[in-house]
Amino acid sequence: METKILDANLDENIEICAEIIKSGGLVGVPTETVYGLGANALCSDAVVKIFTAKGRQPDNPLIVHIAAPSDVGIIVKDIPAVFYTLSEAFWPGSLTLIMKKCDTVPDSVTAGLDTVAVRMPEHPAMLNLIKKSATPIAAPSANLSGKPSPTKAEHVKRDLYGKIQYVLDGGNCRVGVESTVVDISGDIPQILRPGGVTYEELAGVLDIVEIYNAADDLAVDAPRSPGMKYRHYAPKAQVIAVVGSPEKTAKHIRQRFEKFGKGPKSSEKSKKIAALMFDDFAAENQSIVTFGAYADHNAQASGLFDSLRKLDNMNAEVIYAQVPDEKGLGFAVANRILKAATTVEKL
Ligand code: TXA
Ligand code: MG
Repeated sequence: METKILDANLDENIEICAEIIKSGGLVGVPTETVYGLGANALCSDAVVKIFTAKGRQPDNPLIVHIAAPSDVGIIVKDIPAVFYTLSEAFWPGSLTLIMKKCDTVPDSVTAGLDTVAVRMPEHPAMLNLIKKSATPIAAPSANLSGKPSPTKAEHVKRDLYGKIQYVLDGGNCRVGVESTVVDISGDIPQILRPGGVTYEELAGVLDIVEIYNAADDLAVDAPRSPGMKYRHYAPKAQVIAVVGSPEKTAKHIRQRFEKFGKGPKSSEKSKKIAALMFDDFAAENQSIVTFGAYADHNAQASGLFDSLRKLDNMNAEVIYAQVPDEKGLGFAVANRILKAATTVEKL
């Protein structure tokens, strides 16, 4: 099967993709966070195809996308009061809420959990597609499992070529990192995954919000956020995350370059190294990819995954990465780099 990119600005293309969703097929879909791989969330046979296409572990549940806050009743029961506070403040947008699920939601979506993840995205083409499909759409990020998430239609085409008929092209993703996942099924809202809506923004509307520490769960059989236990967002190369002030981390990376040579293999022993650095701390070097200025978390978020893919295409074997401070959107960007890392060096 050939995979084609369709312009999401044309209504007829949304119609074509809605027909595929209705008939139980898969479509690459744009959202403001990252591209998704969508299927009818209420049809188990369709949902199972997502796991096969991505090579995703069946114990990693999916996010269900709806087109209006009032549609939450189709898939959620016992809606807590805090849902109204959060959906009013942040929907449509990059916030996913975990609540108790209805029986209408197949077990394949939730990996057998009694909760379901729900989000109303902001991208107009995605909202239009959900409405025209007349069903909620389950969609994980549209990358092959473990790879950097896609932020351009071209990324989806490359990862899933031959596995899906169409990718709806809604342009480059504005946010660039995935939604923030917040569990509101218990007494205290807990951030399971940092993302496009920041901790500070959530704390601005909630009396109390906790950040769940996945490391606490690694020893137990059923982690609260199943997706977080796998290595993620990772290019082919070994990734070394360098944590510390941008001055120190930039100096450290420059020293590694001097030690390893300027990029291309200089001897059998030395590996081809590359780096992901802030615009304002990067040296001129063809093996350095930049992803925004140190203080510009928005640019870092929207550039991160594309930069990791570029580093992959350069066939780097070792990638040194500067890690942003954890304020605002920097928390999500740092989280993704640390998840992609095989090693963390603290300076
Ligand atoms: O921005 C996004 O969230 C994108 C776009 C396409 O909407 N989607 C996305 O989906 O990032 P995915 O499948 O790559 O990540 C979903 C995350 C995983 O970490 C998964 O474990 C968690 O949400 N999740 C889903 N359902 C859950 C549940 N019932 N309880 C706890 N975690 C859940
Ligand atoms: Mg993902």
